[in-house]
Amino acid sequence: MLDQYGRNIDYLRISLTDRCNLRCIYCMPEKGVVKKCHEDVIRFEEVLKIIKAAVPLGIKKIRYTGGEPLILKNISSLIKETSEIDEIKDIAITTNGILLYDLVEELKEAGLNRVNISLDTLKEDKFKHITRGGDLNKVLKAIEKCISVGIKVKINTVLMKGINDDEIKNFIEHTKEIPVEVRFIELMPIGEGEKLYKTSFMSSSEVLDKFPELIPLESSKSSTASMYKLNGAKGKVGFITPLSCKFCSDCNRIRLTSMGTIKPCLHSAKEIDLKESLNDEVLLESVLKDVIYNKPSQHNLEYDSKSQSLKMMYQIGG
Ligand code: 5AD
Ligand code: SF4
Repeated sequence: MLDQYGRNIDYLRISLTDRCNLRCIYCMPEKGVVKKCHEDVIRFEEVLKIIKAAVPLGIKKIRYTGGEPLILKNISSLIKETSEIDEIKDIAITTNGILLYDLVEELKEAGLNRVNISLDTLKEDKFKHITRGGDLNKVLKAIEKCISVGIKVKINTVLMKGINDDEIKNFIEHTKEIPVEVRFIELMPIGEGEKLYKTSFMSSSEVLDKFPELIPLESSKSSTASMYKLNGAKGKVGFITPLSCKFCSDCNRIRLTSMGTIKPCLHSAKEIDLKESLNDEVLLESVLKDVIYNKPSQHNLEYDSKSQSLKMMYQIGG
C-alpha cells in the first residue's frame, strides 16, 4: 500500500535474532550483548502471522536478517513456510556467510532466492580483525556454492578508511569474472559504528572519483544502491549511500525486530510493539496499516551524525 507520502511499501525486513557468531568492529561490542529472555524474542509462528497480516497490505518481498539468521535452527522451514504464501514473490536473507556453506542446498530447496553476504575484506588476517575471529575461507566457499546452485549473491562491503580502502580495487575486479553484485555501504554512525564513523567514514563519491572506469547503470526506483559496471564484467558494483545521498524518498520498506516491534524507519526512534496485537488478525492488520501509512518521510542522519534509532544494527539487521 502507499504511505502518506505516496511511497509503495512492499518490502518487509525481519530481524530474527540479535545474536551473532561474529563481532564486527562497526556493529557488535567485543564482549557481545546480553542474551534476551526466550519469551521476549519473536517466534517463527509469530513471524508468519505478521507476514500473513502484511500480505493484504501489499507486502511482496521478505528478507530475513539478524544478528545472524543462520544460527537459528529451522531457518529453512521458516523459509519454506514463507515461500508457501502465494503473494510473497521474493525471499532473501542477509548473512555473514560463516554457517552458509552447509545450508545452501536446503535453503534453496526451501525457496530462498537471494543472499546478501557481509564481506569487508578479502584478506584472511584482516577478516579476523574486522569480525573479531571469523574465518574468511568459510565465507568464500559459501559464496562460490551459492553461485553454483543459482542463488543470486550480493556482497555487502562497509567502506572504512584506513581499514579496507586499500582493497576496493580487488572487490571491484572480483566482479569481472564472477556474477556477483558488490555493494559498498557507507559506514553509518549507529551503535559501535558511531566511534569508528569519526575516524573511518568514507563517502561513495570518493571511491567513484578513483574509479572512472565504472560505467553507471539504470537502477530500479526502490533500489537503495546506485549501480555501476566494469566494461564486459559478469557482475556489478553498487553504492549504498545513506549519508551522502539519501534514498528516503524512494524507500519501500518497513522492519520487524526480533523483539516483536516494527520500525517504520531504520534511523528513527519510532517503534510500534506488535506483541499485543498478535492474537487478533484484524487488529494486527490494522496496526500494520497505520504503521505503513505513517512511515516517517526521512531520516536526519547527515545533520545529527548519530542515528536516532533505539535499536542497534545487530538488532535491526541493516
Ligand atoms: N554501518 C554500515 N553498515 C553496517 N552494518 C552493520 N553495522 C553497520 C554500520 N554501522 C551492515 C553489515 C551488514 C548489514 C546487515 O549491515 O555489514 O552487511
Ligand atoms: Fe554479526 Fe553482521 Fe553485526 Fe558482523 S555486521 S557482528 S556479522 S550482525
